[in-house]
Parts: sequence; C-alpha cells; structure tokens
Amino acid sequence: MKLKSRVLQQGFLLALRFVSLVLWSFPGARALDNGLAMTPTMGWLHWERFMCNLDCQEEPDSCISEKLFMQMAELMESEGWKDVGYEYLCIDDCWMAPERDSNGRLQADPKRFPSGIRGLADYVHSKGLKLGIYADVGNKTCAGFPGSFGHYDIDAKTFADWGVDLLKFDGCYCDSVEHLEKGYKRMSLALNRTGRSIVYSCEWPLYMWPFRKPNYTEIRQYCNHWRNFEDVYDSWQSVKSILAWTSSNQKRIVDVAGPGGWNDPDMLVIGNFGLSWDQQVTQMALWAIMAAPLLMSNDLRHISPQAKALLQDKDVIAINQDPLGKQGYRLRKEDNIEVWERPLSDLAWAVAMVNLQEIGGPRFHTISIASLGQGLACIPDCMITQLLPEKKKLGFYQWTSDLKTKINPTGTVLLRLAATTTLKSLL
Ligand code: GLA
Repeated sequence: MKLKSRVLQQGFLLALRFVSLVLWSFPGARALDNGLAMTPTMGWLHWERFMCNLDCQEEPDSCISEKLFMQMAELMESEGWKDVGYEYLCIDDCWMAPERDSNGRLQADPKRFPSGIRGLADYVHSKGLKLGIYADVGNKTCAGFPGSFGHYDIDAKTFADWGVDLLKFDGCYCDSVEHLEKGYKRMSLALNRTGRSIVYSCEWPLYMWPFRKPNYTEIRQYCNHWRNFEDVYDSWQSVKSILAWTSSNQKRIVDVAGPGGWNDPDMLVIGNFGLSWDQQVTQMALWAIMAAPLLMSNDLRHISPQAKALLQDKDVIAINQDPLGKQGYRLRKEDNIEVWERPLSDLAWAVAMVNLQEIGGPRFHTISIASLGQGLACIPDCMITQLLPEKKKLGFYQWTSDLKTKINPTGTVLLRLAATTTLKSLL
C-alpha cells in the first residue's frame, strides 16, 4: 500500500512536470523576423569603459579610434573570447565626423578612422568577428553627432555597404513620442530592405517610459534587443538598480523575451574598477539568469585573470545562451536575500541566490528544493552543481530536500539543477 501510494505520488509529480514542460515550450510574442539573435548577442561595446574620448593626441590608447577597435578585435581572437562566444565588436557613439558627406551619407571621423568603417569591418571580419555600429533615431546622437532622422534609408544602406553586422540605435533628440516610435520602426524596415543580416539593438522602451508604457509585443516585432533602463555605470549601485528595476517590472518584460528578441539590461562592466569580486560574480550570474545580451565594456588589453575567467566561464555562458530562450525572474526576496530562477532546456533550471545585505559577513541561506521551478524543478530528483562563485558538484537532491548555501555580501551563488535519467527516460 505504501509502495503503491509512493508510485502514484511520483507519477503525479511527473505528470505535473510534463504539463509544465509543454507550457514552457510555447513561444513568446512574435519576434523580428530576421533570423538573428536566436540566443542573446555576445560581444564587446566601447561605451561604458571608453565613452566619448576624442583626444587621440593626449590619449592615443583610449580615444575612440580604429586602432582601439583593431586591438580589441585582435585580442578577442587571440585570447579565447571569440571561442567562448563573444562575437560582435561594437562601436558606440562618437565615431562620426561632425557632418554628413556631400551625398548625405554618414562618415567616420577621418583622423580617428583613417581606413573608414569599411576598412575596419574588413579587418574585424578577417578575425572571424562581426562589427557593430551606433546611430540615433533623432536629430542628433546623445553626444551631439549627426542623427538619422530623415535619413533612415540612406543610413541603413550605408551600414550595409560597409559590411556592418549590428546597429545600436539610440533615442536622443527626438521631437515627440510619435517620432520615436515611427523612427524605430522605419529603421527596422530600412535595415531589412538592405538584405544584409544586421542585428537591431534598440533603446525604444527606455525613451518611451517617461511618456507611456511601452508596448513590448510590438517592440519585439521590430528589435532584436531593447534597453529598458538607465545606462550601466561601473558601480554596485548601478548594477543593483538594474536588478531592482528588472524584478519590479518582471511581469511586464520577462515573457516577451525569447529567441530573436531580448531585454537588454546594458553592458557587463566586469574587469573594470567599480565592482568588487563578489559584485562581478553577481553581475555575471544575473545577466545569465536574465538572458541578457553579454556585451562587455572593459579593456581587454588590461584585464585580471580572475575577471577574464569569470567572463569566459563556459557553464555560466551556457545558461545565458540556453536554446530554450526563456528569461529568468526573481522568485522571492526574504530578509535581503533574493532567489532568482530560470528554466533551461533539457528540463534543467538555473537558480541564483543574491545576498543584498551590505553589512556583516557571509550569510547562510537554506532553500527547500520543492519551492523551485514552481515546485517542478527537481521532480522526483536532480543533480545540483554550483557554478559560481566557484564550480563544485553538490550532488544528488530529492524534491523533498533542503539546500544550504553560504553567500557573501553583495555576492551570488549560482546553481544548475539538472534532471536525472529517471525523468528523462519518461519523455
Ligand atoms: C545613451 C545610451 C548609452 C550610450 C550613450 C552614447 O546614453 O543609453 O548606452 O550609447 O548614449 O552617447
């Protein structure tokens, strides 16, 4: 009798898990149909680290010039970045000459980019990488260079002619919300008409929020990723505020993400100056949970081995790039500890526990396995591996088990829960 009820109970749990799987595999809203960004974009973007440094006389190594991008391209190829998936080398604001050319085309500053963007694109492609560029939907870029308003077609064509593979399209200097919305849509269509595969990275919702709630279903039909919130800075305050915004808006933004279209919480600042080791771990873990584009903004010429290993951690990258393409969410916050989770392919789950208490030492936190994955993450059992702060196999857990972890202040413990063969064999 006892055995029978156990078998029944297990059967019931497995059925539940099966139903959840069917539900999880429904696609989100329709994505921009350009076949790109089926997993979050990975690469490097100059803004947070190098900003708008135009002074190549005084600071030749950190001004925005083709030399900087060529050096980064070289390192992306030779230092293992490309091998783990960082593919797009992206230029942000401040690459342009102050005026368009006589044919109305954008042009790169001739002193800082003597080979032109075409020459730089050829170089980047020769390294097996892709090139990203930046423009703005309004009358000027945020730093005051020529905007694309009234020039969407010609700019899209110029970028395609140069061999550009990604466009970050900013939203400064727009006259109205209508201008903003129409501009983002028109540029998407213009890029499409070029026939070149160009990832389209938008800031549409960020600029929309002050006026009205963005229509994410629509945004997803035009953009491959979209910024929702303020620019990331090299500080814990900034990373923390991005996480807080994301969790408080998760009902609105999580379900809309999926292959082809992603929420973009902005660049990874790992390897710079402002984050402690634990805070860097938190950014990496949570950007994986959030299915965020992984665009590093750091100096690959000067990066510590520890930061490099974190950014190149294949297991964490695999969570970010999981083909199921479901964004994770905050499950709960209790006593300054947040638990986040993300469903993965192959019946697995990623779970992150963040200690937001900025006083005291490491804290112990116990979670009941049954509370994860809407009760279905570990049915009837699973293998748990801790991926961060360091990798270790924690072993075999049952649905009824508890798991005790120790989390440093502002740090995160990232776990991967893998389904065991018991469940897999039933599917
Ligand atoms: C805005 C964007 C940033 C960056 C700068 C460049 O602030 O949000 O990511 O592109 O403009 O001026």
